[in-house]
Amino acid sequence: VIASFQPKLLKGKRVLLTAGPTFEPIDPVRGITNLSSGKMGYAVARAAYEAGAEVTLVSGPTALTAPYGVRRISVQTAQQMHDIVLAQLAGADERTDVFVAVAAVADWRVANASPQKLKKNADGSAPALVFEQNPDILATVAALPKAPYCVGFAAESENLLQYGEAKRLRKNVPLLVGNIGHDTFGKDDNQLVLFDASGHVDLPRAGKQQLARQLIAAIAARLV
Ligand code: CTP
Ligand code: CA
Repeated sequence: VIASFQPKLLKGKRVLLTAGPTFEPIDPVRGITNLSSGKMGYAVARAAYEAGAEVTLVSGPTALTAPYGVRRISVQTAQQMHDIVLAQLAGADERTDVFVAVAAVADWRVANASPQKLKKNADGSAPALVFEQNPDILATVAALPKAPYCVGFAAESENLLQYGEAKRLRKNVPLLVGNIGHDTFGKDDNQLVLFDASGHVDLPRAGKQQLARQLIAAIAARLV
């Protein structure tokens, strides 16, 4: 209902997003994941669709249904998320205008994942897991020759103003969205700080859908 009164700020634009956690297998029945619910990413996808964009959402495992009108591609691991995102950017006949990386991507995967279910050892010893770093999806997309307008997210537990701007510069993205604290995972509301080249602005605590609409308006205002 509210959507129909919103100006179509992203009419004719193509938006690609990542959302949710990733799941990194240890064996066929176990793995490592995180507490991301996907709510913020799905809210941004919904807001982009409401704003008139053609929206593709690459999602890790969540309990959420795809927002109306949004094309969802489900993945498990960070590597799969990376591969799908790059295939979307390479394969699209039309150009992707905006990439929003909301996913809580696992920084590491288990290098020695077992093809069979691990069994307990008689001597009580635990399996030794070896980790290797996953590709950085956002940094990879931001470094493409014809990169879309890239928006990152960051959940920091301290020094948000300092770490947020540092992360924006390190990832080389024009806009980075900071979550305040770790009190966002699974919640229906949130509080954001937007970092860009001219500084930072606060989006005070509100529902994730309302914040998502504000973020989409902020992105639309920055597209040339
Ligand atoms: N991100 C990504 N691919 C990764 C890791 C992160 O695309 N392998 C994206 C996230 O979706 C988010 C942004 O990068 O938009 C920042 O993620 P964050 O975990 O805060 O940053 P890291 O560079 O992983 O730094 P940290 O050591 O603080 O986790
Ligand atoms: Ca990380």
